[in-house]
Amino acid sequence: MNKVIVLGSINMDMVMETDRLPKVGETLLGQSIDYYVGGKGANQAVAAARVGAKVSLIGKIGDDTFGSKVYKHLKQEKIDVSGVTSEKNIFTGVASIFKLKEDNAIVVLPGANMLLQDIETNLTENVKSDDILLTQLEIPIETVQKGLSLAKAKGAVTILNPAPYDEKVIDMLPVVDIITPNETEFEGLLGYSITDEGQFEKEMLNWSRTHKTQLIVTRGGDGISYTTENEVITIPAKEVTVVDTTGAGDTFNGILAACLAKEMTVSEAIQLAGKGATLSVTKLGAQTGMPTLEDIDLF
Ligand code: RIB
Ligand code: NA
Repeated sequence: MNKVIVLGSINMDMVMETDRLPKVGETLLGQSIDYYVGGKGANQAVAAARVGAKVSLIGKIGDDTFGSKVYKHLKQEKIDVSGVTSEKNIFTGVASIFKLKEDNAIVVLPGANMLLQDIETNLTENVKSDDILLTQLEIPIETVQKGLSLAKAKGAVTILNPAPYDEKVIDMLPVVDIITPNETEFEGLLGYSITDEGQFEKEMLNWSRTHKTQLIVTRGGDGISYTTENEVITIPAKEVTVVDTTGAGDTFNGILAACLAKEMTVSEAIQLAGKGATLSVTKLGAQTGMPTLEDIDLF
């Protein structure tokens, strides 16, 4: 079976439930705190593993309590963590997530994630042609660029989830097969905002043709739009009771990569990944609601 190799961030998410955000200078009493393993890289790896893909994760953690917790957790999720290394004198990435009723606000302290650089040996030895390399932007941008180039040179399929957005991704497009922004990140790629919603799909098709990169835009409750040779297809999302949208995009990306590793077509993979992402928002925490294939079937 082809593998999914995720190159990306690993965090401990501290999820604090509160009715609203404090104003500057204000102290507020919140409701609860929960600790979940998170980080876009770890989340995407877990999403891919839950649907049965062979997954290895390349990342950095700190030599602290959170580091050993997340490492143990990722192993339990049946992810190959031989590419996750620990660094001294730095903390494991932490995300402070303020979970409000409808939405959330997140501050990420990347810590060890920003020390992820030494990836050549791992990628050169492990990536085989037809494997899938999946990466995002919570690690040094040079590492992302290097990872994509190395994987492409090996004949792997490369997927870039451009989150959080950085304009330097434009330079990486020659080594990106599929790019998966959300709507805001897509506007970043475009370099302007789309004022006429009716033009959204046309903008997607133009962009994808100009940059010779397949484009998949995740649009929250509005579903998912993706480009083919000649058109843009939009799959609407099923309605569910939303508990926590944290990690929905990661669930989509992880399942997409897993399905491509199993040699499904891109549209089959997108259908399944879309359902998986919808299911994931019904539970609190980025990974709690990530489904197995059976869960998706039942849904
Ligand atoms: O995409 C969701 C993730 O972003 C969270 O798990 C948090 O760690 C932040 O990195
Ligand atoms: Na969730």
